[in-house]
Amino acid sequence: MKGKFITFEGCEGSGKSTQIRLLSERLTKEGIKHLVTREPGGSDVAEQIRTVILNKNNSAMCDECEALLYAAARIQHLTEIVKPALDSGMLVLCDRYVDSSFAYQGYARGLGTDFIAEINSRALKQFPPDLTLFLDISPKAAFERKHGADLNDRMERQGMEFHDRVYKGYKELARNNRRIVCVQCGGTKFETNDNIYNLLKSSGII
Ligand code: TYD
Repeated sequence: MKGKFITFEGCEGSGKSTQIRLLSERLTKEGIKHLVTREPGGSDVAEQIRTVILNKNNSAMCDECEALLYAAARIQHLTEIVKPALDSGMLVLCDRYVDSSFAYQGYARGLGTDFIAEINSRALKQFPPDLTLFLDISPKAAFERKHGADLNDRMERQGMEFHDRVYKGYKELARNNRRIVCVQCGGTKFETNDNIYNLLKSSGII
């Protein structure tokens, strides 16, 4: 595996997509080849799984099923999209990865981190991220910034207590894993993007 695998994590509305887009524009200007992708989804089969997971009518879905569907979408996306890109030496920027499953299903749903590690063991063993950037903004502040939750999205519809548990889960993951770096998001989106760019520089990723 020659390329580098960078994952972005955060609560709903934390600005991951905006930050990835700004970073991608900057990398393109500098001639740094890279791939932007996302989870759940990023490939045809995985996008189909995504629509099942996020469909607000699937209220009967049990927590274990939800976690397994995320894991299924993940391994498909890794096989079809991420692995070939890394094999060709590309820098891969992925919007959400296995830490989302730890935070949302492991901590917030209460399934526990052992179960999440078990069903994602192949992803964890074969495709550990080189660096994970956690956009550190509380769910309350993030929802205020994006003017409320998207009620058509089964995950965003969960109450604030759920999203608080997600946030606390992320903070614990960051405390326990050196690969996860917290990015403060108090400034403008451009300041946050400078921080991210500098982190990638100082860790030798770019
Ligand atoms: P998305 O619309 O992509 O949210 P965001 O823009 O905030 O990234 O939807 C992805 C949703 O899936 C989001 O609520 C987080 C959730 N999720 C999990 O619960 N577990 C996972 O493993 C992943 C990858 C995402």
